[in-house]
Amino acid sequence: MTDVLPAATLPERGSGDRVLAARSGIAARPSVLFVSHTGTMSGAELVLRDAVQPWTGSTAFLFEDGALTDALRGQGLEIRLPRRRTSLAALRRDASPLSALPVLGRLGALVLEIARAARACDVVYANSQKAFLLSAFAARCVGRPLVWHLHDILDSAHFGRAQRIAQVCLANLCATRVIVPSEAAARAFVQGGGRRSLIRIVPNGLDLDRDPRPAAALRAELGLPAGPLVGVFSRIAPWKGQDVLIEALARLPGLHCIVVGAPLFGEDAYAAHLRDLVAKYRLSDRITFLGQRDDVPRLMQAVDVVVHPSVDPEPFGRTLVEAMRVGVPVVATDAGASAEILDGGAAGTLVPPRRPDRLAAALSELLDNPDAFAPRTDLARERALSRYGADRMQRALADIILQVAGRA
Ligand code: UDP
Ligand code: GLC
Repeated sequence: MTDVLPAATLPERGSGDRVLAARSGIAARPSVLFVSHTGTMSGAELVLRDAVQPWTGSTAFLFEDGALTDALRGQGLEIRLPRRRTSLAALRRDASPLSALPVLGRLGALVLEIARAARACDVVYANSQKAFLLSAFAARCVGRPLVWHLHDILDSAHFGRAQRIAQVCLANLCATRVIVPSEAAARAFVQGGGRRSLIRIVPNGLDLDRDPRPAAALRAELGLPAGPLVGVFSRIAPWKGQDVLIEALARLPGLHCIVVGAPLFGEDAYAAHLRDLVAKYRLSDRITFLGQRDDVPRLMQAVDVVVHPSVDPEPFGRTLVEAMRVGVPVVATDAGASAEILDGGAAGTLVPPRRPDRLAAALSELLDNPDAFAPRTDLARERALSRYGADRMQRALADIILQVAGRA
């Protein structure tokens, strides 16, 4: 399996054409069609926003309008939206392929629209699973190479069998490259029957500013309680495991918790379940739901520990890197990419998933003796800076796009 490609010399904005052309051996800077099925910003879309930064002047085709539209426009991309809005909500990850039948006509129309946009571009870059499924047909129609940025773990915890088979077969047939953010995601793709030679691992990278103020000052400004405080900063979804943290809190009297994030993709029943759990354990004075926020790194700096309690394998987990970057200790479940990112536990504490007892024990050990964990947190910050910066990710992605464009 090929790890991150050697870094290309990325273009400065406006001066990149020559550099890119020289590297790729093609006449002009390739133009890329970035495709996303959603306009809502979760981790994959935040990665796309940062990934397109060197590709000013390229085009994005979004199946629906949303915050991503403005984010990509702000990066200098031309935005295309479908003529008719089509909800793909019925195409759930565990649904039978037959559930696509009622919207087959609309899917066909979307493929044609993507194909039309792709004809004017050198490379098609699909940023999500649904975007890939339709882009595969579109790119084939117009003979363009297709890069699939796969942000998911293709295993039985996340997808039904028929969907896994369909995705992997289509990737083997139509994708020129499959980019994944972690070894864990790469393994799942290959175990599911995906061709190993297609895979390139490009860890997500991000930049953020650390607030220089001490945690106590931030806490006061944000109106957060004094005393031991932990936080979870993931969107509200059953596999993100906020319920496990609530169960752990029930075992740790005196500990407060903030729950940051919202059910972005229709997980309202789970959000209601979390509130029921809080009521059941009488924790309403110790758990504060803050909803979706745009100041996550600042909020992280105000807590004693960032908890990442995903119960199913995490494909990557930007929130882990954000916590590492701001220098706050992390307790994460050992599922998917967490162990890779946290250096097998040297840069954070790993606990088994779905074990509130083990999570509670790890939190209490850390809160009782924070100094003992300081070297781990220092290592985590260095690791985040050296391995998971936006620039490194952009260079690795640009290399792949240039290679693929050269083969077009
Ligand atoms: N996030 C945010 N506001 C919130 C909750 C989360 O901006 O209220 C961000 C968080 O900082 C992170 C991203 O959403 O950058 C989530 O990405 P991650 O890869 O951790 O998980 P995903 O939700 O994509 O599975
Ligand atoms: C997905 C994954 C998350 C990953 C993000 C960006 O949303 O759930 O783990 O960090 O994509 O790759």
